[in-house]
Amino acid sequence: MCTKIVIYFNWQPNSLRGKIIFAEIEEMTAKDFIPKKYSEEIREGKVFWQSPSNIALVKYWGKRENQIPANPSVSFTLDYCKTTTSLAFRKKEKPSADFDFELFFEDEKKESFRPKIEQFFKRIEAYLPFLKEYSFTIHTSNSFPHSSGIASSASGMSALALCLMSLEKQRIPDMNEDYFNRKASFLARLGSGSACRSIEGELVVWGAHETEGSSDLFGVKYPYEVHENFKDYQDVILLVDKGEKQVSSTVGHDLMNGHPFAEQRFEQAHENLIKLRDIFKSGDLVAFTEVVESEALTLHAMMMSSRPYFLLMKPNTLAIINKIFNFRLKTGLHPCFTLDAGANVHLLFPKKEKEAILNFIEEELVEHCQDGQYIKDEVGAGAKKI
Ligand code: PMV
Repeated sequence: MCTKIVIYFNWQPNSLRGKIIFAEIEEMTAKDFIPKKYSEEIREGKVFWQSPSNIALVKYWGKRENQIPANPSVSFTLDYCKTTTSLAFRKKEKPSADFDFELFFEDEKKESFRPKIEQFFKRIEAYLPFLKEYSFTIHTSNSFPHSSGIASSASGMSALALCLMSLEKQRIPDMNEDYFNRKASFLARLGSGSACRSIEGELVVWGAHETEGSSDLFGVKYPYEVHENFKDYQDVILLVDKGEKQVSSTVGHDLMNGHPFAEQRFEQAHENLIKLRDIFKSGDLVAFTEVVESEALTLHAMMMSSRPYFLLMKPNTLAIINKIFNFRLKTGLHPCFTLDAGANVHLLFPKKEKEAILNFIEEELVEHCQDGQYIKDEVGAGAKKI
C-alpha cells in the first residue's frame, strides 16, 4: 500500500482567497488484496448475505481491462431491490483441478448461471486462493420479480462476494471492517462492475477522480457532506419493458471502444461528479435534476451513436419522460428520472414529496408501465449479513 498526497485548491471567489487542502489518501493496489496467509483452518460452514441493487446518478459506461472503469461514477444504494444468497462450504481432502460448486436460484438448480460464476471464480482466484479447496453450494433469490427488466448482476455478484469474504474472514479473524468492505467491493467489481457500488450505502463513488478520494478498484462511501434533502431519497422503478436486456453490459461497454465521442463523455463524467459535490452539499434539487437527467440521456445518446447503434428507450419511456417534464412545470415539485441500459424509468424524488408524486404515478404514469407494474424503493444503508 502506498500513500498518495492529493492537493485540492479550493478557490473562494468572495474572499479572493485560495486555500490548499492536503488530504492523504491510501492508494491500494490489487496486490493488497492477495492474502499473505490464513491463520485458521475452517472445515465447513454456511454464511448468508443480503445485498442491494444500486442506481447510478453519474453513469459508468466504458471499461478497460480487468473491469477498470473508463470514468468515475456515483450511485444511490437501494433498499428493497436486493438479492439474498447463502453459501455453504465444505473443505475437500485435496484441492480439485476445477471449481466445485452447485448453484440454485429460487430453490431450482440453475445450470445457465454456471458460466458467469465460473468466470467470476477464475477472475478472483488469485485473491481468494482457497477457492479450489472447498465444494460450495450457493442458494440465491431476488426480492424483485425475475422478468422485470431489472438487472440482478449488481445485487447478485455483491452478495456472493460478501459470502466469500465471510469465509475468508473466518480464516483471518483479525481482518478489519474497512478492509473487509473494500475487498468485498473489489471482488464484486470483478463479477460485474457496478456491483462494487452495492456493498455500502447510501451514496457510493467508484472510479479514480481528482477530488473524491475514490479508486478504480472498489467503491467507497461518498466522503463529503450530504444535505438533508438527499436523505431517504425515493426511487420508483417504472417497468416499461420487462423483457430480457437487448444489449448485454459487456457488449454495451465495448461499444465505447473507438466511439467518436468517448473521450468527451469520460471527461463529462468527471465534471458532473464535481457539480454533484456542490449539489449534495447545498441540497439544490433543480441542479440535481439537471445533472442526473442529462447523465441518463447521455448514456442513451452514447448507445444511439455507437456502431452498431442501439435504441433502448421505448415509446412509453418517452411518454413518461414528457409527463415528468410537464408535471414539474405545473407543480414545482422535483421528480427526476434516470435510466439504465434499458427502457425502464427510475423516478427519483425527495421523501417530503412522496404523497404528491405517488399520486402522479398512479394517475398518469401507470398506464405506460407493462401490466401497470412499478416497484417502490428508496435509498438504503448497504448489504446486511443475516
Ligand atoms: O455493471 P455493469 O457492467 O452491468 O454496467 C452497468 C452500467 C449501467 O448500469 C448502465 C450504469 C451504471 O453505472 O450502473
